Amino acid sequence: MTTRELKEKYLKFFEEKRHKIISGSSLIPENDPTALFISAGMHPLVPYLLGQKHPSGDKLVNVQKCIRTTDIEKVGNDTHLTFFEMLGNWGLGSYWKKEAIEMSWEFLIDKKWLGLDKDKISVSCFEGDDEVPKDVKSAKIWQSVGIPKEKIVFLSKDDNFWGPAGKTGPCGPCTEMFYDGVEIWNDVFMEYNKTGEGKYEPLKQKNVDTGMGVERTVAVLNGKKSVFDVEPLKSIVALIKRMATDYDERSARIIADHLRAATFILGDEKGIAPSNLERGYVVRKLIRRAIEFGREIGISKDYAFTIIIAERVIDLMKDDYPELLKNKDFILEQLTQEEEKFNKIDAEAEKIFDDYMKKNGITPMRVVDPRKETYIANPLITKDIATALFKLHSSRGLSMSTIRRLAREKSFVLDEAELEEELEECFKEHVSRSAISAGKFKSGLADNSEQVTKLHTATHLLLAALRKVLGDHVYQKGSNITAERLRLDFSHSEKMTQEQIKKVEDAVNEIITRDLPVNCYEVSLKKAKEIGAMGVFESKYGDKVKVYSIGMSDCPFSCEICAGPHIKKTGELGRFRILKEEASSAGVRRIKAVLE
Ligand code: ALA
Repeated sequence: MTTRELKEKYLKFFEEKRHKIISGSSLIPENDPTALFISAGMHPLVPYLLGQKHPSGDKLVNVQKCIRTTDIEKVGNDTHLTFFEMLGNWGLGSYWKKEAIEMSWEFLIDKKWLGLDKDKISVSCFEGDDEVPKDVKSAKIWQSVGIPKEKIVFLSKDDNFWGPAGKTGPCGPCTEMFYDGVEIWNDVFMEYNKTGEGKYEPLKQKNVDTGMGVERTVAVLNGKKSVFDVEPLKSIVALIKRMATDYDERSARIIADHLRAATFILGDEKGIAPSNLERGYVVRKLIRRAIEFGREIGISKDYAFTIIIAERVIDLMKDDYPELLKNKDFILEQLTQEEEKFNKIDAEAEKIFDDYMKKNGITPMRVVDPRKETYIANPLITKDIATALFKLHSSRGLSMSTIRRLAREKSFVLDEAELEEELEECFKEHVSRSAISAGKFKSGLADNSEQVTKLHTATHLLLAALRKVLGDHVYQKGSNITAERLRLDFSHSEKMTQEQIKKVEDAVNEIITRDLPVNCYEVSLKKAKEIGAMGVFESKYGDKVKVYSIGMSDCPFSCEICAGPHIKKTGELGRFRILKEEASSAGVRRIKAVLE
């Protein structure tokens, strides 16, 4: 079975069970200050799990592209991936444990669907603790469909409780399904909302949230041990193997995973360019790690291999993700630049070693190593070199693994604990001082706090005001909201004048003073386009969308396609102030603003 076949079967099965197929979202979360990337199918659906009505109904199914960076060190084993596709079905207050489990079971064992061998299926349920009771109900339902008691295990919160993805939000006990001992599906029974105080409050509605990792399931269905043994990853690893002169399977897997993830982030509907901050930093790190592992296995500098791999990824996955083809030029351009940057830093680091050797008259000495062939023993890395390397690290991002490789190539002895530790310490110190807060790497979800909601509405007003003052070429390029401030990136190539900034502020404050209603409509995508709503119009399934409009209904001040939530009347916002207007990237400006 191919990934395509699995996805088609899954969607068809749940469609027959009266679920509505909805599009997957961009990898970049909307209005979620605590998460860098979408990490599960439920992530874009949080407002609906919390009780908002979804325009497509209360039974949904889709395929969602996901990025998880928490387990990046594990990538290279048989199951972990940074980028993966996840199948999911949701009952938003519409069905509960019995229906969810019975549907999962039917899909797994019925010959019309996956037709798996019943005897190889086992499940786990939540064992209960002080806060949430044991999930006896799910276990009983599993027994009633035919799973023998001895194949049902009860596990703790670490294993059988899912979410919240961030600090607060929807969560609940889950039941996981294993085939041949490999986890393939997770049914989560979201009946709690974890509050800021760490309490589990009952949710307004009981939701079912399920997740099936596409690559992992296809591997299991084909009797393969690893996600890298099935397409599309299999071909990508094979291509890497052909380019390597000193092949190593784990390194090739890491390269395949990282470059696929980078291709998807660069090629996303809301494409992200490599940088030293947040999402840009993640994509840069993925690309650089991939190149470093490439050098490790002897892929020549002359190959520009990242674009060769990216082209293969695009080719293999473009049918399901047309955005990759649309953004191909951008993907390849960014990868080329990153690889050039990497090579430059690499050459500078190499020069540090060479200069040191020259200055100190060190001639490499050949020594016979009984375990390997020959190697050349040079002195320990001294403080001199270490300091120069640190500098290159903090200013240009030279990585620890590049240093290790160069030291090895130059035959410096690196396994002397003291110096190694010193290097590591400096790196660690630097990393914790750097701009990315560790929390952002967890797949967190927003506190849906009031302030974030207010700033979100203010963002709509700001965009509308910018278009009025600067012109219709202004489109939203990115948005990030924390409880303290909003940040909007928009297309405009010149620095704004003080006068323009003042005009924009005044326009927003005028709408606030007039205390206008914020209206919400659910319409078809076509209708949204007709009424001139702004937003992303790409959709594969002709979904219904929500449109938020502010101001008079026949001629609104602002009108955007958006999932919400928003405040009810603009008067709630207080006073709007622009803190800063600056360049973000070529042709894109950035505004940071607050409500006072
Ligand atoms: N949200 C659940 C998961 O990601 C289904 O496993």
